[in-house]
Amino acid sequence: MAALLLRLRLRLRLLPLLLLLVVSLDAAPRGADAWGKQGHIMVCKIAEKYLSEKAAAAVQELLPESAGGELSTVCPWADEVRFHYRWSRPLHYANTPGVCNFSFSRDCHNSRGQQGMCVVGAINNYTDQLYSYGDSKKSSYNLTESLMFLAHFVGDVHQPLHVGYEEDEGGNTIVVRWYRRKTNLHHVWDNSIIETAMKDFYNRSMDTMVEALKMNLTDGWSDDISHWENCANKRATCANHYAIESIHLACNYAYKDVEQNITLGDDYFFSRYPVVEKRLAQAGIRLASILNRIFGDDKQDANAIPLQAQ
Ligand code: ADE
Ligand code: ZN
Ligand code: ZN
Repeated sequence: MAALLLRLRLRLRLLPLLLLLVVSLDAAPRGADAWGKQGHIMVCKIAEKYLSEKAAAAVQELLPESAGGELSTVCPWADEVRFHYRWSRPLHYANTPGVCNFSFSRDCHNSRGQQGMCVVGAINNYTDQLYSYGDSKKSSYNLTESLMFLAHFVGDVHQPLHVGYEEDEGGNTIVVRWYRRKTNLHHVWDNSIIETAMKDFYNRSMDTMVEALKMNLTDGWSDDISHWENCANKRATCANHYAIESIHLACNYAYKDVEQNITLGDDYFFSRYPVVEKRLAQAGIRLASILNRIFGDDKQDANAIPLQAQ
């Protein structure tokens, strides 16, 4: 009985400690693996608008029942399975040895040195699998999963810190304050910048933010779209190029003027937010473009003109 009471008292004493641990883990998130959920949904909402008819039909056929016919609902899925499919964890990013350039042969591998096991290899691999869609002999791949992985990783490769430095795990080990809140640099780029923009500019509404991005695509960025889409590689993708862009943006914007324990506020937010906006839009356009190349023969026109003018 005395032993039981002692154990109970010990547990009660440990409880506040445990609570503190949970709260501090919450305040300083680590090891998140993507644009946050919202970033991925936005990328895919943009992509949906730029799909050719053929691509939209193929996507509809491949989507799981639970998606309710919307690609955007499955775009965060790869993050949800990264503990279950442990092999998929390194496919969300690529790291460089502390340099501002990306080399596939040097940087695209997992911790066991297996080549191609990074975000660029993953995009090319799942694209290749999806090309077997419609083959007369049934594909041995689960093309529903291939589509959900591809849609997610095209988003990830556009998050600048998903092609970051190995030493700090793409900013995950750089502790910062986002205004008053303790977090890390990677999380700022996955989530905080988007959340602050949504709160300050878009009435906390993701749909309003997506509409603003779509509007920008039809006026401000309309001349850029064809450059973003341009990819000379016939059957592979241009993911290598997107990774090179990301590490450049990581060096010039994400890491720039940041050190351990720094507080980031308005100056950082207002100078980096335009980069985040543009990367979300680019990712959406390029995802649509990849899917149009895979599924549609009407790619050129479909890429240039949005199907449903909104
Ligand atoms: N873990 C290690 N490096 C990473 C990166 N660049 N992005 C996300 N998670 C990581
Ligand atoms: Zn991810
Ligand atoms: Zn991330």
